Amino acid sequence: MKWFLLFLVTLGIGLAKASSNYNHYRLPTALRPQKYDLSILTRLENPKDLRFSGSVRIVIKALQNTKNITLHSRDLAIDESQITLRQLSGERNSDNCVNSTEVNPTHDFYILNTCQELLAGHAYELNLIFSAKLNRQLEGYYRSSYLDPEANETRWISITQFEPASARLAFPCFDEPGYKAPFVITLGYHKKFTGLSNMPAKETKPHEYLTEYIWTEFQESLPMPTYLVAYSVNDFSHKPSTLPNGPVFRTWARPNAIDQCDYAAEFGPKVLQYYEQLFGIRFPLPKVDQIAVPDFNAGAMENWGLVTYRETALLYSDAVSSLEDKQHLSNVVAHELAHQWFGNLVTMKWWTDLWLNEGFATYVASLGVENIHSEWRSMQLESLSNLLTIFRKDSLESSHPISRPIEMVSQVFESFDAISYEKGSSVLRMMHLFLGEESFRSGLKSYLERYAYKNAEQDNLWESLTQDAHKNGALPKNFDIKTIMDSWTLQTGYPVITVTRDYTTRTANLSQERYLLNTDISRVHRGGCWWVPLSYTTQQEKDFNNTFPKAWMECSQSGESLPTTIQDLPDPNHWVIFNNQLSSPYKVNYDAQNWKLLIETLNSEQFQSIHVVNRAQLVDDVLYFAWTGEQDYEIALRVINYLQGERQLLPWRSAFDHLTHLGRIIRPTPNFQFFKRFIKKLIAPIYEDMNGINDTYTSIQKQDDILLKTTVATWACSYHVSDCVAQALAYFRNWRSEANPDEKNPVPIDVRSPVYCAAIKHGSDGDWEFLYERYLKSNVASEKLTIMDALACSREVWLLQRSLEMVFDPRADVRKHDSAWAFQSVAYNEVGFLLAKKYFMDNVDTIYKFYYPLSKTMSRLLPPLYEQVSNRREYNEFKDFVASSQESLKGMDQAIQQTLEIMLTNVQWKERNYHSFTGAIKQILKVPVRQ
Ligand code: BES
Ligand code: ZN
Repeated sequence: MKWFLLFLVTLGIGLAKASSNYNHYRLPTALRPQKYDLSILTRLENPKDLRFSGSVRIVIKALQNTKNITLHSRDLAIDESQITLRQLSGERNSDNCVNSTEVNPTHDFYILNTCQELLAGHAYELNLIFSAKLNRQLEGYYRSSYLDPEANETRWISITQFEPASARLAFPCFDEPGYKAPFVITLGYHKKFTGLSNMPAKETKPHEYLTEYIWTEFQESLPMPTYLVAYSVNDFSHKPSTLPNGPVFRTWARPNAIDQCDYAAEFGPKVLQYYEQLFGIRFPLPKVDQIAVPDFNAGAMENWGLVTYRETALLYSDAVSSLEDKQHLSNVVAHELAHQWFGNLVTMKWWTDLWLNEGFATYVASLGVENIHSEWRSMQLESLSNLLTIFRKDSLESSHPISRPIEMVSQVFESFDAISYEKGSSVLRMMHLFLGEESFRSGLKSYLERYAYKNAEQDNLWESLTQDAHKNGALPKNFDIKTIMDSWTLQTGYPVITVTRDYTTRTANLSQERYLLNTDISRVHRGGCWWVPLSYTTQQEKDFNNTFPKAWMECSQSGESLPTTIQDLPDPNHWVIFNNQLSSPYKVNYDAQNWKLLIETLNSEQFQSIHVVNRAQLVDDVLYFAWTGEQDYEIALRVINYLQGERQLLPWRSAFDHLTHLGRIIRPTPNFQFFKRFIKKLIAPIYEDMNGINDTYTSIQKQDDILLKTTVATWACSYHVSDCVAQALAYFRNWRSEANPDEKNPVPIDVRSPVYCAAIKHGSDGDWEFLYERYLKSNVASEKLTIMDALACSREVWLLQRSLEMVFDPRADVRKHDSAWAFQSVAYNEVGFLLAKKYFMDNVDTIYKFYYPLSKTMSRLLPPLYEQVSNRREYNEFKDFVASSQESLKGMDQAIQQTLEIMLTNVQWKERNYHSFTGAIKQILKVPVRQ
């Protein structure tokens, strides 16, 4: 297609083609764009021919003399007969021109060779005319649609998604984050539609020759990178927000979903206002539009002034959405609005520092949500879940540093991962906690002010923070942030600290090494040194609130860990715990005596004297150490046995995370029966305490316990605890007997997911059809997902196969952006796993084409495969499959490496731990149930 278009265009005007030797992945640096005037005419009337045409005028400044202009452009038909180039400044008045063009498809370059040399210091104006189809691939300038239920007709809209490198699909441009420039955007469209862009509309006038068409010109934007440009033509409705003293704030959705916009319309401006206070910098644009796009590949996108969302990330229905849905959408909105400062105002120089965008937005979003909904206590929960994620992902040898070299677009995509987001956020939290509130805030403010409307790299951040920290006395003068933080952002992985106490001298020696899941890797290869802030407390002190470091583990110039000894520890009968509230991303192992003391406290009435986050830490750490062989499973299970008395979410989160993994490996083995009994024993007390799955709200004292109830119900029903399944079936039966089940649903909202799942697992074909009909009729995106997930709980092979085939069928009612989720639902089912694995391996070519060019999205199909492969035969089979399917796994290198490594570590676990684990379970089952 691309070649075809370019060929046509070339033929049309006969500009000479030349070839250039320039084959670097970055644009040459001789030119800088100063301003863009972009006009786009969008044609949405004919569903068979959805397209746009445009013109762009770019003012370019030459920094060095050059004979060509190299831009990005992909899949655009550029009318070469209409290219014009003229000099804007200087004495030479004669117009310049373009005498030949070239393309470099590897780097999406469009190269214009100029008639005369462009001279350093002068400005030029380049005009290009181009056109393309509104594509279906969810990036660039693309189409989306929804069904208008009244007319029973499909309605089409257009929308952009440019990050990281798809502005070049929509208009020729300097598509790198370092080239910031102001944009004047003008949209042409049929007057029945609305046109939206980053800035407010300035004026509207009729189209020159298309009757019924209008042009809307938008105000000039502030300098911004191409990836933040956005526009849309649609027939949506909007809900205005009412918070005074802020920018105009509107929330847009398809007309039939406008009643789901209330919550986001209320929450958005509040969090924006909070950030203005937090950073001490006003939001600089006159308006924000947030829009729910029916087809949207990412979760949301922070375009300056026009933030785009998936429906599940913006729409909320009181009658249907769960607390989890509400928290998710608050978090997404808070994340995208945080980007308005971190990313939009100050942008990373190059994708290497993507974490300056994503890590910040993730961390700042937790602050925002915590501020507005403190009753959710989401800061703790978010911090813990970020850490749980990175403890897993960053324990792989195939992980990578937060800051990493980027040379290809596929690598940019791969960087939108847990390392940039969750690890980025965790190291920022660590810094916040060791610097203290004032220094952290003032350092950030200086950084934002200094680099506003410009670009920055991580060293710029370190410098601002060090200066402010030294000024405020928050950091010893001989420490600087760069030395400390480089050890976290330039090295892969995180350390495990081993604390060995000397009980006679009341001291402890600390050592560190990288924590790795793959136990075949020898100690010598686990090097690395991290600057580790050491907060700790003792059984006498129990001061978990102090997260300020009492000492540091330091590194020598040559990167070796310096010996660290801690003094004044308690007597041999009292424990010590390091890393108060998990303030930094590291694990801690202790000597046997200290573990013994900890286990005693956990299994006593006093367990709550250990901070809830540290209880979660102990559970997580000990289960990892047992997995990798530094600890016995008997000890580990004695630690988690205390959960029978635990009534808070966080420690359960840690435990369930591990039990899920262990369960998936042990599920197809004869010893699964003992595992099941263990789970039942563990969760029966809390299940009863929370009043089972009976109506959610009356038995819940604190809002955040609702999440715990949802989680416990999920485990209870899948492990047949108490009356869970019977209750679930009763609820479902009641629902099925409703005259109008789409209007009236007696199942309590926050247990719908486990209830539907149990009903489908134990129910009939008729139950499946009933639920599937609800899926088709639902108007709420998050409800559709809940139902789709539950439909995959069936144990009928044919129904699972039916779900599986729906996933990749363009005619089925599953949107492409939900396909990976739908696939995962089937593949995590014990029966579905084998079907899904076979389907994936048999159809990898078709699946690749289905996702192309979104290979990153395709990699979302992998987790259920790698989490459930645990024997060597399957592992080798998958390895062979990878070797013979290179073409269909392109752009997924990182995900494939991680997949193989995780499969290998599962195999190692099974070979080494299976017997000791089941032996330990049998032992722990003998311990009497706690009263
Ligand atoms: N900037 C990203 C959107 C994005 C993701 C663009 C991947 C290109 C590739 C946006 O700010 C984001 O991070 N969205 C998240 C949701 C967020 C709440 C974690 C997403 O899309 O998952
Ligand atoms: Zn983001």
